Amino acid sequence: MNKIENISFENNSNNKENVISLLKNEKKSLPTHYLYDDLGSKLFEEICNTEEYYLTRTEQQILNAHALDILKEASPLEIFEFGSGSSKKTKSLISKALKQKKYITYFSFDISTKALKMSYDQLKQISKNLDVQLIQGDFNNDICRIKKSKRKRLYLFLGSTLGNFNNNVAVNFLNNVAKIMNKEDSFLLGVDKVKDEKIINMAYNDKKGITKRFNKNILKVINKEYKLNFNENNFLHNAKFNLEKSQIEMYLESTVEHSIRLPNNEDLNIGKGEKILTEISRKFSEKTLNSLFRKANLSIIKSYTDKKKYFSLYLLKTKKYLFP
Ligand code: SAH
Ligand code: TRP
Repeated sequence: MNKIENISFENNSNNKENVISLLKNEKKSLPTHYLYDDLGSKLFEEICNTEEYYLTRTEQQILNAHALDILKEASPLEIFEFGSGSSKKTKSLISKALKQKKYITYFSFDISTKALKMSYDQLKQISKNLDVQLIQGDFNNDICRIKKSKRKRLYLFLGSTLGNFNNNVAVNFLNNVAKIMNKEDSFLLGVDKVKDEKIINMAYNDKKGITKRFNKNILKVINKEYKLNFNENNFLHNAKFNLEKSQIEMYLESTVEHSIRLPNNEDLNIGKGEKILTEISRKFSEKTLNSLFRKANLSIIKSYTDKKKYFSLYLLKTKKYLFP
């Protein structure tokens, strides 16, 4: 496998305090990226294949149907994907890009080593004219350390991962992407749209219970990382659409009153029915997206959707060169 370049400035002792303070808050939460250890990244791949999780197959259909148009607009020599996961969805786009340009460099940027390995395995066979670069980092903290493109670049942020950020974090992320974009670069963003809440709720509560395992796995990761003693049997998977906020909120809900031993030997009490937020997944309207793009200095070049308008892809450019 190619070497993984780690650009993370992560400071573990700060993280520890941060995690403990999130757990001590009246509304408890855990940092989302802990969902994606080796097992979590594998379980996420399985979620993508469940019947209920319409997002992956819908986005793949849109991407396949419009790949040539996207490539005509963006004409990339480099493709840079944030939160690439296994890069399964991107594979056919890369193959098509290689028909247009002889040499392509693909940058896979992810926090998870397992995801980067899966990405490399997925792509290594495609062509000797494809250079795959693996970069490990956190897209909320390390984006400013990404080197700007030397050749025309297409940035990708798929899977509605933007929906896992609250509004401020989303604006900040999009702004950071806009900042590293050169005039000729493009940015393809995949987002899940508002729809019947029954369909949304089913997607995050699959019958096989894979999302439940994915959610509970965060406790194993936290236990290992911070030497805590969470027992996953004390919690149930709770993922529901919050209509007012237009977002899925995924929690671990305590079924019994119990306590967790903290590193300073303090006991953290968790009441029966108390919930720990592990992830949000926002469902966007055109209005919310337009406001996000405006705040981030991005303008829409093209947009693509499916027949049911479940999911959208936006091809964006940075505005900073349009109005100097
Ligand atoms: N793009 C893929 C995977 C989406 S899942 C798809 O559409 O199917 C989200 C991906 O983002 C995972 O691979 C996860 O490891 C990665 N990720 C989560 N938090 C991250 C962070 N803070 N920084 C970088 N990558 C992160
Ligand atoms: N980006 C994905 C989404 O928002 C991440 C995800 C998959 C997820 N399954 C999840 C988030 C379950 C919360 C709960 O759909």
